[in-house]
Amino acid sequence: MQDRKFTADRLLLFGATGDLSQRMLLPSLCALHNDGLLASDLKIVGTARSEMSTAEYRNFAREALEKYLTPNRRGGMADFLNRLSYVPVDATTPEGYDQLAEEIGDYSDGLAIFLSTAPSLFEATIGGLEHAGLTEGKVRIGLEKPLGTDLKSSEEINDAVAKAFDESRIFRIDHYLGKETVQNLLALRFANIMLEPVWNSNYIEHVQITVAETVGLESRVAYYDDSGALRDMVQNHMLQLLALVAMEPPTSFDATAVRDEKVKVLRALRHASGEEVVTGQYCAGAVSGQSVPGYDEELGKDSDTETFVAIKAHVDNWRWRGVPFYLRTGKRLPKRVTEIVVQFRCVPHSIFEGRGARTHPNRLVIGIQPQENIQLTMMAKVPGLGREGIRLRPVPLDIAMPDAFSDKVRRIAYERLLLDLIEGDQTLFVRRDEVEAQWDWIDAIRDRWDEHGMTPKTYSAGTWGPSAAIALTERDGVTWHDE
Ligand code: BG6
Repeated sequence: MQDRKFTADRLLLFGATGDLSQRMLLPSLCALHNDGLLASDLKIVGTARSEMSTAEYRNFAREALEKYLTPNRRGGMADFLNRLSYVPVDATTPEGYDQLAEEIGDYSDGLAIFLSTAPSLFEATIGGLEHAGLTEGKVRIGLEKPLGTDLKSSEEINDAVAKAFDESRIFRIDHYLGKETVQNLLALRFANIMLEPVWNSNYIEHVQITVAETVGLESRVAYYDDSGALRDMVQNHMLQLLALVAMEPPTSFDATAVRDEKVKVLRALRHASGEEVVTGQYCAGAVSGQSVPGYDEELGKDSDTETFVAIKAHVDNWRWRGVPFYLRTGKRLPKRVTEIVVQFRCVPHSIFEGRGARTHPNRLVIGIQPQENIQLTMMAKVPGLGREGIRLRPVPLDIAMPDAFSDKVRRIAYERLLLDLIEGDQTLFVRRDEVEAQWDWIDAIRDRWDEHGMTPKTYSAGTWGPSAAIALTERDGVTWHDE
């Protein structure tokens, strides 16, 4: 039996020169270092294809930190850089891995590997690690998306990894789970008595989950055009958010209990029908007052890849019977916002109706980013003597997280995930059965597109997607929450 509870004192970063490393991994590690959260003997070995010496890599890392880490978190940067070393490896040939093993040295106390690589390189990389003996003993591996492009390829990757690592040593990353506000969703649901009794189809009319971005393709042309919004955002982040909203209370906040409940929700997702899915692709427009080109222009060729998707989803179980979950995500939308809206039902009988007052149903808005807040709209009486009748108005009860916890540092999602990987806590990582249930649902949508030769409708950059996305909810009498 492997010893699962260990804190690794070696961290191996594949893709160490990539975009993710520069923007997220190096800044997160440096911030953890500054806060004294990395063991003093933790050694970080970076690897990628580029030929570079350790000294050059440290310079490269310094530049990344100066660019992406806020100045007040860079205090011990020089010390942090001394932890880093670098070995160039061509992932497709076994040779370089021996040198990597040499650089890592004695890892009998534990090795954590972070793998962010193209799906096509997964197998070769696992093979190389095996060849160099880097999969034996106290070793765990973190896998960054994309983990495949459909269920079949995801199973292939999972099988290849499973040959060398059992599930308890595999940490599949969905960085949304590392976000503070996403975890706060669990606190909101399961650390308060008031919500659980009403958290079901008797009291909730529908749920909306929006992940809107203002950015376009950025520099990820090839990846994004092969992927599209459904696979890039819905398959992982949005379905994880949905699972957290819809799951039954786990018995404890531990990896098995939480993931057991999430997977039940993912498996209960009904396959969406053709009318329940809308796709779009942005054409030229303006975002925040700036003109931006259309997707095809950015890409440099015609493409049928969707940059927007809206879905009416259903969770087929007792709790959620008849409650639609409207999901939408897109690039080049009017603003960057991730939020969950829980729309409650109307009171069963309004005692104020005879006095001319309208009651509106309660609504809970959970802002994930950029605003981290929880807002509950409650009906209240508008002050006045009410000679012409009573007036009621929804007023928000507002909790702004940064204000409530102003003494706490807001951390990058990867800070927590890297630390959990090093220390071996799987709670915020996605289990194989979850990923596969997610793909199963996504594949059914894509199969339908292929069958019907579906192509995305256009929408102007800076708008909330094609008009069909508005019709998707309006025909149920529901309006997207766009304020
Ligand atoms: C990534 C997607 O997983 O998440 C990107 O590949 C997207 O396309 C990003 O921009 C959004 O992450 P965040 O944390 O900025 O909401």
